[in-house]
Amino acid sequence: MGKKAISSETQLIPMLEAVVSYIDEGVIIADKQGNVIYLNPSASTLLDCSNHPISRLSDIKAFNFQRTLLRAAIQAGEVDAAGRPSGRFVTFEERLQLENDDRYLEFHTGFVDCFDHDDKMRLILIRNRTEQRRIEAVYKKRQSGFETNDPGMLDVVHRIQQIAPSDAFVLLQGDSGTGKTMLGRMIHNLSRRTQAPFIEVNCAAIPESLIESELFGHKKGAFTGATSDRAGRFQSAHQGTLFLDEISEVPLHLQAKLLRAIQDQELEMVGSDQTVKVDVRVITASNRNLRDMVDAGEFRADLFYRLAVIPLTIPSLCQRPGDIPLLINHFCSLLAARGYPTDIECNQEAMRMMMNYPWPGNVRELENAVEHGIICAVNKHVEPESLPQDIYNYFQKEHGEQTKTRDNEILQAHQIKSALEEADGNKSDAATLLGIDRTTLWRRMQRLGIH
Ligand SMILES: Nc1ncnc2c1ncn2[C@@H]1O[C@H](COP(=O)(O)OP(=O)(O)OP(=O)(O)O)[C@@H](O)[C@H]1O
Ligand SMILES: [Mg+2]
Repeated sequence: MGKKAISSETQLIPMLEAVVSYIDEGVIIADKQGNVIYLNPSASTLLDCSNHPISRLSDIKAFNFQRTLLRAAIQAGEVDAAGRPSGRFVTFEERLQLENDDRYLEFHTGFVDCFDHDDKMRLILIRNRTEQRRIEAVYKKRQSGFETNDPGMLDVVHRIQQIAPSDAFVLLQGDSGTGKTMLGRMIHNLSRRTQAPFIEVNCAAIPESLIESELFGHKKGAFTGATSDRAGRFQSAHQGTLFLDEISEVPLHLQAKLLRAIQDQELEMVGSDQTVKVDVRVITASNRNLRDMVDAGEFRADLFYRLAVIPLTIPSLCQRPGDIPLLINHFCSLLAARGYPTDIECNQEAMRMMMNYPWPGNVRELENAVEHGIICAVNKHVEPESLPQDIYNYFQKEHGEQTKTRDNEILQAHQIKSALEEADGNKSDAATLLGIDRTTLWRRMQRLGIH
C-alpha cells in the first residue's frame, strides 16, 4: 500500500497545531495591532496567565511586552524610520517576578508571512531559561568561593548577578560576619570594572577627624601632619569600585560632601578648592539599620536614598541553618589546603551543638570555630570540648538549666509525697500543709506523675 503524501498546506495545519500545542516552548501569533490570533498552552503557563484570557499582547500582566520589545529592538538596531521595531527577528530575555519565584524567559520575535493573510504576523517564541540561569548562578557562586544553598541567600546572589554589570549603587545590610564584604567583592568581580581596583574602607576603623582626608585626600599643609599631597580612597578607586563598610559611622557633617562625591562624581581634596573628577561605583555596607537611623535623624535621607538604589539584606547564619554543614565542609577544605589535617571527624554531639548554636558572629564565627575544632580535636575527633569556649559555655548553661529544673522537680515530688503521707492521703490537708491550694497540688501531682 503506497503512502499518501500530504498534498496541501491546509492538511499540514492540524498536524502543526498538534505539535505546537504539545511543545514546551511558548508560541504566540499576533497581528500588527497586537491582537493575539493564537497562543499555545505553554505560552500561557510560561507567562503565568492561565487564569486570565489574553486577547491582546497588552493583556500580559507579568511585564510590558511592547515596551521591552522596543528596548530590545533599539539595542539590536532594529527600528524603522517611525521608531518602531522593524519586524526583523530580535531576541531578548525578561525576568518575571512571580509570587513564588523568579522566572527567566527568552523571547525570539519578529514578523512572518502568514498563509492566508496579506499582512505579516508577529511570531513570538518563548523559552524558559530559569534552570540555566540557576545553574550559572551556582557555578559563578562556586567560582567566587561563596557557599550557600539557602533560597533567601540564593535570591541575593541572583540579584547580585543581575545588577553587577550596571553601575547602580548597592547597599548591603546584615549582621556582622554574614558575608557583606565578600558579596561586595563579588559585585565588583562580576562588573565591567573588574580590571580596575576594588578599594575597601572601613568607616568605623578610621578616627572621625581623619575620615574626610582618607576618603577625599588632602593637599600638602592642609592640616598638621599633612607633609605632602595624598590621594584619597575615591581617587584610588577611580574606574573601579569603592566599598564603604560601616557607612553608618560617617559623621553627619561629612555626609553632604560624600553625597556630592557619589552623585556628581566630583570632589575637592582637603585644603584645595580644585574639583577632581572621579568615576567610581560605590557599594556600601552596614550592620545597623540605616532606614531607622534616617528616621532618628542620624543619617541624611538624601544620602540614604542615593546609596540604597539596590538595597540587599543579607540573612544571618541562624536564619539559614542549612548552610552550616555546607560552610563547615567548605572551611575544612580551605584549611586542608593550608596544611591542616584532613582525617578529622566531627562527633554527633559537637555537630548538634554547631547546628543549634545561634552564631552571633555569623559565618566569621563559624569559620573560627571550625579551625578551633580541628586544632583541638581529641584523637582525631571534634568533641564538644574541642569547640570554642563561647559555644561550649552556651550549651553548658543550657545543660545547667536542665539540671536545675530536674533537681527542683525531685525536691517538689519529695515534699508532696511527705505531705500526703502525713495527711493520710487527704489532698486538701496535704495542700494546707504545703501552703498551696488544692488545685495547685493536683496540677503539680499530674506534672510530676504522683498518683
Ligand atoms: N557564604 C559564604 N561562603 C564562604 N565564606 C563566607 C561566606 N560568608 C562569609 N564568608 C567568610 O566569612 C568571613 C566573614 O565574611 P565578611 O567579611 O564578608 O562578612 P561581613 O558581613 O563583611 O562582616 P563585617 O560586618 O564584620 O564587616 C570571611 O572570612 C568570609 O570569607
Ligand atoms: Mg565587612
